[in-house]
Amino acid sequence: MSATTIRLGGKKVLASVEGLSFRYPDSQKPAVKDVSLEIGEGEVVLLAGPSGCGKSTLLRCLNGLIPHMYPGDYRGGVTVSGLKVADTPMSTLSQSVGLLFQNPENQIFMFSVERDVAFGLQNLSVPREEMRARVDEAMRLLGISDLAQRAPHELSDGQKQRAALAGVMAMRPKVIILDEPTSLLDPKTALDVVSLIGRLNRELGITFIVVEHRLELLIPIADRLIVMDSGSKVMDGPPREVLADPRVEGYGVSVPPVSRLYNALSRDGVRLPRVPETPEEMAEELNAL
Ligand SMILES: Nc1ncnc2c1ncn2[C@@H]1O[C@H](COP(=O)(O)OP(=O)(O)OP(=O)(O)O)[C@@H](O)[C@H]1O
Ligand SMILES: [Mg+2]
Repeated sequence: MSATTIRLGGKKVLASVEGLSFRYPDSQKPAVKDVSLEIGEGEVVLLAGPSGCGKSTLLRCLNGLIPHMYPGDYRGGVTVSGLKVADTPMSTLSQSVGLLFQNPENQIFMFSVERDVAFGLQNLSVPREEMRARVDEAMRLLGISDLAQRAPHELSDGQKQRAALAGVMAMRPKVIILDEPTSLLDPKTALDVVSLIGRLNRELGITFIVVEHRLELLIPIADRLIVMDSGSKVMDGPPREVLADPRVEGYGVSVPPVSRLYNALSRDGVRLPRVPETPEEMAEELNAL
């Protein structure tokens, strides 16, 4: 299916993965196995599954690190924003797909925050004035304008995460891919990053694909939950539905307590009228009983 196809929900398809398999050179079995999926423009997609199931590998296939930087046995195809990833140079892809690594240290290297934020743009030969404007805008969006002259290594983990995300934002990508963006953050800063993702999605229409183990953090802003296991996509749907499916706990996904309680009640024959996503919704459903 082409990237411009209008799909049933009325949303444009922004990314499509068709029969994708990838095996790293020294591995016996593929890290990603015959995965097909479509991501609509403006969606927030949460990707979950046990350690080693292929989440980061799938993200690398979406942003082009695979096959451009990682060699291996690559089958099937990935199209993002109308570009066939395997046939498009990284410099072109990076203007459509932004990737934030698990550890922001990997994305922070220069002498000041603003030079770090500008780093990606410097490789695109963006005119100086436009670069200045985009860097300022990205720092403002992320609330780090006052840190512009600070040395990146002096920042807190949360500030580093914001600086790295600002560097991605300055590229103005259509889709931003985040690999465990909150893993280094305390609960309060993690919530701040999640609400920021929600805001960038709502206000700028940016599509997000997020790998996150702490599902309950992302569930409130996620449109979709995809679960992988041993390289395959095993579940895909609205988070409420996926988490209410008894199979989900078998896939090593840390099911949020609210969903576990819902599933336990269902097993005992208690049918709530609505699948709750938050403790507040659960309280309402139980009160209504
Ligand atoms: N650079 C690499 N070279 C060889 N094998 C790799 C490489 N990166 C990952 N793998 C292997 O590919 C499989 C999938 O790894 P991947 O990193 O995609 O999993 P993941 O779901 O992101 O795990 P985690 O939750 O621990 O981050 C694993 O078996 C892993 O050992
Ligand atoms: Mg990973």
